[in-house]
Amino acid sequence: MGFLYPIFVSSFFVLNYAALNSQLQSSQTDRATTEGGKFSSEYPEFENSIQRALSWLITQRENDWGWRNDTAKVLTALRLAAVHDDFNPILPSQLETELSAKQLEIEIVILLWRHREIPITPPKLAQYALAVTALCKDPREFHGHDLIGTLQHHEPVHDLEFAYASLAACSAKSHVRKKQIRRLLDIANTAKDHNIDTVAMTILALRCIVKDHRHRNLQHSLRRPSISLARQQHTDGGFGNVYNTAITMQALQEVPESNSYWNKTAARAYIETRQDPDGAFTDPGLTADSLLALLGKGLGAIRTLDCGKSDSDFDNHVEIDIAKSLSSHGNDSEIRNVTVTYTLWVGSNITENCTVSITAPRNTSFYNIMQMAMELDPHFTFEASEWPNGHYVHTLAGYKEEPMGYHYWLLYRLPEVPDPSAPPANQLVAPVGVDELLIDEGDHYLFWYKKL
Ligand SMILES: *[C@@H]1O[C@H](CO)[C@@H](O)[C@H](O)[C@H]1NC(C)=O
Ligand SMILES: *[C@@H]1O[C@H](CO)[C@@H](O)[C@H](O)[C@H]1NC(C)=O
Ligand SMILES: *[C@@H]1O[C@H](CO)[C@@H](O)[C@H](O)[C@H]1NC(C)=O
Ligand SMILES: *[C@@H]1O[C@H](CO)[C@@H](O)[C@H](O)[C@H]1NC(C)=O
Ligand SMILES: *[C@@H]1O[C@H](CO)[C@@H](O)[C@H](O)[C@H]1NC(C)=O
Ligand SMILES: *[C@@H]1O[C@H](CO)[C@@H](O)[C@H](O)[C@H]1NC(C)=O
Ligand SMILES: *[C@@H]1O[C@H](CO)[C@@H](O)[C@H](O)[C@H]1NC(C)=O
Repeated sequence: MGFLYPIFVSSFFVLNYAALNSQLQSSQTDRATTEGGKFSSEYPEFENSIQRALSWLITQRENDWGWRNDTAKVLTALRLAAVHDDFNPILPSQLETELSAKQLEIEIVILLWRHREIPITPPKLAQYALAVTALCKDPREFHGHDLIGTLQHHEPVHDLEFAYASLAACSAKSHVRKKQIRRLLDIANTAKDHNIDTVAMTILALRCIVKDHRHRNLQHSLRRPSISLARQQHTDGGFGNVYNTAITMQALQEVPESNSYWNKTAARAYIETRQDPDGAFTDPGLTADSLLALLGKGLGAIRTLDCGKSDSDFDNHVEIDIAKSLSSHGNDSEIRNVTVTYTLWVGSNITENCTVSITAPRNTSFYNIMQMAMELDPHFTFEASEWPNGHYVHTLAGYKEEPMGYHYWLLYRLPEVPDPSAPPANQLVAPVGVDELLIDEGDHYLFWYKKL
């Protein structure tokens, strides 16, 4: 019995890997053509420490799409770096990220499967839970397993592990018990008795907890411990070693009241001067930690990452209300409807060809247009799988992608209705997925099933 589950899991992933890998090859070809302008020359000398660290991390990726025992840390750092548009040209593509995310899942499955031989340590599990959350999945529902529940089940004895586990639970928007908050406050208020990394991690956890409206009132009790942490900066700009400096910088991010007690520029310089010429900070794990410090978006930002869905969090309600009131006061012409066409072609020689015209508000996602088209005309029926970063359309008009035969559905955004006698070039393949593609007046979309 015991071995059935892992075997099922591994064959499931292997199949998906084959499909994703071949999609990846084709998408890389498209990327190369599409972004030819940006990438045609060799990579430029990255002038900035963040870009160099990111590029180095990408070179360290293994053939299995992971980073040995640092997959979780590295994926978390890449996800937080993706918040800044500036780094998009260096960051992995959506498909590459999906492959690495699958590797992360495999590692977690193995961890759970082998827990009798090799006990799961709270920091390891916390690291994985944070990465799963950062990738916009719920660690409380990891293939039917509650990672946060497992993490919270045994309260770690060590304060650092306890703070890390609390941060992971809070970042997943899981309930943090009063008793747990009291212990964190105790650590924060007796900073002198603890290592600086423990105090920094505790402040990260508490900063996350006060983002929950039920614990807003605790905000003021973080002021003193934050300032006392800030004052531990050494004359060299650091807070001990690179790790301690990186974690402390993350704890003090977005804490304006501590700003006059430490020198951020000096801390940054402390880290930057310890970067190797190739962009590394010793190993992928420490490089990921340093990146989070340099980015100004650290572990404390995971709870509020935009995953494109609303939830019951107080902050999000406020944002939605603001968005609503802005649009109701806005100019009506801004929310006018636009008309686009949507065409399906089947076969490299185009043996099937049909087009529908759809009117919808500007900025509607192409995914929604596909759903409208499907209602209007059953010919446009489609099936898609869901990924952390959106829908992946694999079947349209009854044709399913066949990675083994290199048959794929390619999506184009065109300036004119496509003409079978002059098929579009690869440069016109849509640069983003169906959820991110927002319609505008004069857009013409084409999904073409062809052999690559
Ligand atoms: C991670 O792997 C590296 C090298 O592969 C090793 O030096 C390090 O001790 C490992 N860390 C842990 C926590 O297992
Ligand atoms: C902060 O550190 C930088 C670099 O070490 C230094 O140039 C600057 O004067 C410092 N700022 C303050 C306010 O001390
Ligand atoms: C709305 O915008 C259009 C075009 O930009 C303009 O002509 C019109 O006067 C605006 N209406 C209002 C109420 O601002
Ligand atoms: C549509 O999207 C563009 C770019 O994201 C934005 O500038 C514009 O304000 C959006 N318009 C509406 C009506 O949401
Ligand atoms: C597609 O057209 C080419 C030449 O126009 C022809 O050689 C080929 O056999 C056709 N393929 C199919 C599947 O009809
Ligand atoms: C494709 O459809 C358009 C309009 O629906 C039509 O004008 C054109 O002749 C069709 N082309 C082929 C090759 O069927
Ligand atoms: C926009 O289109 C929707 C249907 O998609 C329609 O209900 C709505 O009245 C239209 N709005 C305008 C301003 O034309």
